[in-house]
Amino acid sequence: MGGVIPDQPLSPSASPSPSASEEGKRLPSVLDVPLPSYLLPETAEVDSAGHLRVGDVDVLELVGEVGTPAFIYDEEHLRRRCRDAREAFGPRVAYASKAFLCKAMAELAWEEGCCIDVSTGGELAVALAAGVPGERLVMHGNNKSVQELEAALAAGVGRVVVDSFDEIDRLAAVSRSLPLGHPAPKVWVRVTPGVEAHTHEYIMTGQDDSKFGFGLASGAAAEAVRRLRSPEAGVEVVGLHVHIGSQIFALESFERALSIVAPFLGEESLAELCVGGGLGVPYVVGEHAPSIAEWAEALRGVARAVGVAPNVTLSAEPGRAIAATAAITCYTVGTIKDLRGLRTYVSVDGGMSDNPRPVLYGSGYEAFLPRETSAPRPRVVTVVGKHCESGDIVVREAHVPADLVVGDVLATPVTGAYGYSMASNYNKVPRPPVVFVRDGAWKVVVRRETFADLLSLDA
Ligand code: LLP
Repeated sequence: MGGVIPDQPLSPSASPSPSASEEGKRLPSVLDVPLPSYLLPETAEVDSAGHLRVGDVDVLELVGEVGTPAFIYDEEHLRRRCRDAREAFGPRVAYASKAFLCKAMAELAWEEGCCIDVSTGGELAVALAAGVPGERLVMHGNNKSVQELEAALAAGVGRVVVDSFDEIDRLAAVSRSLPLGHPAPKVWVRVTPGVEAHTHEYIMTGQDDSKFGFGLASGAAAEAVRRLRSPEAGVEVVGLHVHIGSQIFALESFERALSIVAPFLGEESLAELCVGGGLGVPYVVGEHAPSIAEWAEALRGVARAVGVAPNVTLSAEPGRAIAATAAITCYTVGTIKDLRGLRTYVSVDGGMSDNPRPVLYGSGYEAFLPRETSAPRPRVVTVVGKHCESGDIVVREAHVPADLVVGDVLATPVTGAYGYSMASNYNKVPRPPVVFVRDGAWKVVVRRETFADLLSLDA
């Protein structure tokens, strides 16, 4: 997967976060590689006692107050990535809120100049509750209901991304019911370019055989634009949207998609092209991903090369690249089961309910102890959760310090995207709190669920 980066252990004097774009040589696979700093949030530091500090807050002190499991986000990291996106793509760039959303996050992304991509009525409601103006929202979804379209149009969302012929009919009906003088909704047509990005099958979306968008090769995209341009449709077609998948390291996949879509954009004389999200991030030692700026630069180069008109606005909607590395999840080790000759199971107080990615996609993570962040990690264990399934794995092959004991706070980095947003209450486990840290202070932006919350929907 992609290139390689130097293993940069955090040490009290080390620079906390080298750019993930720094190329280097992967060390041979030694077992005791300390956690590299590029997997931690940008303001991470190690104090003289070896403790991890994020946003100038001692992580162990913080979890002493809020308990475990807990998602701890570096607010400065989130803000910097949003600013990177805005700088790289301009004012129509959107943060893909499916990666991680709460009111504080929506507010932050908007404050930093990003639009927000919402893909359901629920995400729309949270963004609006955070005070984000409708015009700064992009409404997605492959099966938007009439109610969702009504809510989106009533809020005056900046763009609706049209995904199917059925939606064109529903949209026409909803837009006819708008009060007189209400401006026609601006829409992008979502196109599938027939590109198979190199990523997990479940998160690949640009191939012809997809539930998303209109195929280019089949002529469906051209037919969609034609129908949307008829006066009965009641909308204004302003651009195209293409999203080929997620956790993609190879810029060539994006470049290929862009070069396929560009001629169609020209034929239809459309002036906006959103390339979706999908930029990957490193999760484990040795992975490397381009930065948001490098991604934008590569896309611009292709746009120029394939003759995209200079007046075309190129935008994107990164989610993972903004939120993933911003957070760590802290757990408490409750049980260590050493099955001699087989494996050591280290059970923590969360699991697949706060991070379903390992069980869904076989995703890998690192683990470390915030009490000795830069310690060598020579012991190999399997970190598991507290759920009633053997598949409830947090880290299959976790390298941890030799002195790991019951009661330790164990952390997994790079859990800021698609962790909290895909969390569940499986086994009636309450969802963890979300804490933002910044400048020596912390705030709980989403509180821990209680058993009363779990019971609150029962009749
Ligand atoms: N735009 C659209 C239309 C999308 O469908 C997505 C992600 C994004 C933007 C943001 O993509 P990102 O920059 O975050 O890659 N649950 C999976 C990821 C699913 C992605 C769904 N769509 C995971 O945990 O890997």
